Amino acid sequence: MNKTPTSLVSDGVAVSAYAKLNLTLEVLGKRPDGYHAIRSIVVPVGLHDDVVVSVSGDGADGDVSLEVVADGADISRIGATGDNLAVRAARLFMERTGCHVPLAIRIVKRIPIGGGLGGGSADAAAVLVGLNSLVTRHSSLVTPLSTADLMEMAAMLGSDIPSLVHGGTVVMEGRGEKVRPLAMADGRSPIPALPVVLANPGVFVSTAEAYRAVRDDLTDTPILGTIYDTVSRGMDFASVAAALRNDLEDAVLPRHPEIAALAAAMRGAGARAVLMSGSGATVFALAEDDEEAERIMRALPAGCWRTLTRLLPDGVMAAHGPLEA
Ligand code: C5P
Repeated sequence: MNKTPTSLVSDGVAVSAYAKLNLTLEVLGKRPDGYHAIRSIVVPVGLHDDVVVSVSGDGADGDVSLEVVADGADISRIGATGDNLAVRAARLFMERTGCHVPLAIRIVKRIPIGGGLGGGSADAAAVLVGLNSLVTRHSSLVTPLSTADLMEMAAMLGSDIPSLVHGGTVVMEGRGEKVRPLAMADGRSPIPALPVVLANPGVFVSTAEAYRAVRDDLTDTPILGTIYDTVSRGMDFASVAAALRNDLEDAVLPRHPEIAALAAAMRGAGARAVLMSGSGATVFALAEDDEEAERIMRALPAGCWRTLTRLLPDGVMAAHGPLEA
């Protein structure tokens, strides 16, 4: 049952904003614009924030209010409303479509902030998807934007937001804006819905600093092979485990031994597929079955944030009326 107050949702939409993991993250080289050329397989996981976007009765057209409620995430690091990526997404959407309404955004936050799980990016993607549905419903004169249009807007907000607007298992390239599905011939993801343990020591890692610290000689070591191509058969645990790679680990782990310690604790419990996600500080362990995942959970040191969820390889981000949620 959705418990969001009816007054807030009477003219609103709800979107589940799923966290993501980078199963691979290759840093291929530095670009003239200061960003890095990357290649990464992004897959959603079941952990998600709830984002509700509503037309609010008491604001002027174009006003955006934000309410963030913690449900397991430490929200003390959330800055001023105007800097929030979800609010910036709403403003950009209204600016680009010329469709200005007073908006209220409510986020129930479960994804750790600054944790390499794309939480802020997923919230922003959810606002774009939700608003696209909301304004169409609000005015019969407005036609919805295409997913490609939304992804173009998303790229203006952050490098990994287009992949989250797209949803499902994708390969992202360029600085993140070039997105294509990683799919089998029938359209489904080749990645199995494996159990996954996520753990985070609560340290903050700056993505910009992580990229700055990447060695310059990585360009000659791209992953070879076919995992980035459309694959005809599904992958099993062993082949996914063998494909894991994150070029930001060498830049981040020596500076943050707490993150390396969590990865070591997972491996100590027998985990065979452990990697840092994005620029950290979250590390994940894929498990072959629930029993293995529970054993890894139990081995984590007290005090760290952790959750047991599953890969959601075909997950979609859809806007729907909140009362149907
Ligand atoms: O695009 P986003 O704001 O998420 O990126 C944060 C920072 O990470 C950028 O300012 C840049 O320093 C770095 N970055 C990069 N190459 C990428 C993505 C991000 O250097 N492909």
